[in-house]
Amino acid sequence: MKVLSVSNIKGGVAKTTTAATLAAGLHKRGYKVLMIDSDPQMNLTMCFLDEPEEGTPSLYTLYDKGTSIDDLKVSIKDGLDLVLGDFELCSADMEFFKRAGSLKLLAKAIKGIKENYDYIILDTPPNLGFLSLNAFMISDYIVTPMAADSFSLKAIRLLKKTLSEVSEEAEKDIPVAGILLTRYTDRTNVAKLLEDSVVTAAELLDTSVFNSRIRQATVVQESQIVKMDLFEYAPKAPVTKDYDEFIDELLKRIGE
Ligand SMILES: Nc1ncnc2c1ncn2[C@@H]1O[C@H](COP(=O)(O)OP(=O)(O)OP(=O)(O)O)[C@@H](O)[C@H]1O
Ligand SMILES: [Mg+2]
Repeated sequence: MKVLSVSNIKGGVAKTTTAATLAAGLHKRGYKVLMIDSDPQMNLTMCFLDEPEEGTPSLYTLYDKGTSIDDLKVSIKDGLDLVLGDFELCSADMEFFKRAGSLKLLAKAIKGIKENYDYIILDTPPNLGFLSLNAFMISDYIVTPMAADSFSLKAIRLLKKTLSEVSEEAEKDIPVAGILLTRYTDRTNVAKLLEDSVVTAAELLDTSVFNSRIRQATVVQESQIVKMDLFEYAPKAPVTKDYDEFIDELLKRIGE
């Protein structure tokens, strides 16, 4: 089993879209996938489901009560499961950091389910608090989406610093598999304006930029509104092909 977190402190760079589409694309390739919505905004959950009723077991229940993932997960399709996000997670930093072994709570929770999945995909919030740190602790790789309109090298530096610290705590490397350019509009223009910065960002993270880029396309928002993944909603759309190519490239990089 491999665990991947999609992370960037910058908001709106398509972390959630990438997590959802990556999970769906791996499932389409025949892998068993568990998604964990580790963001209080619960956008990953909303990509697949209507807003859950109050009190529905979620990642909050896992951290709060130690409920097992087997008892929490919701089946989206055969072979594609989800641990729901929860607005209650907004207070996760205050509530859970003070608990003993707080950084290892998620690591403990996935111990019993490693046989059940080929991949765990985590969506993370645009900050480096308790939820991101627990996600990093269990991650074999990080995928970092970047969008041209909200580019920040400072955010990348902070991510690198945090990954190094968590890496020490976890006593393992947590490599960044690559930087994924998302919401891409004008190849030549953006490439010219951003080429140096993106390469610098990749160097800072000891990684490289994926050759595959994800174009800006309205079908992305449409698919999320109707709660379908891109492969179902727009199988022939160029943006779906972008994601498909990205997943192939990612699988090659992580040695599948
Ligand atoms: N390739 C794309 N084309 C068009 N719209 C996109 C694309 N990718 C993402 N979006 C839209 O951009 C918005 C932000 O995307 P998303 O929620 O995935 O970003 P995020 O990084 O998870 O944001 P946050 O930091 O708030 O969690 C969403 O409305 C999403 O539908
Ligand atoms: Mg998000």
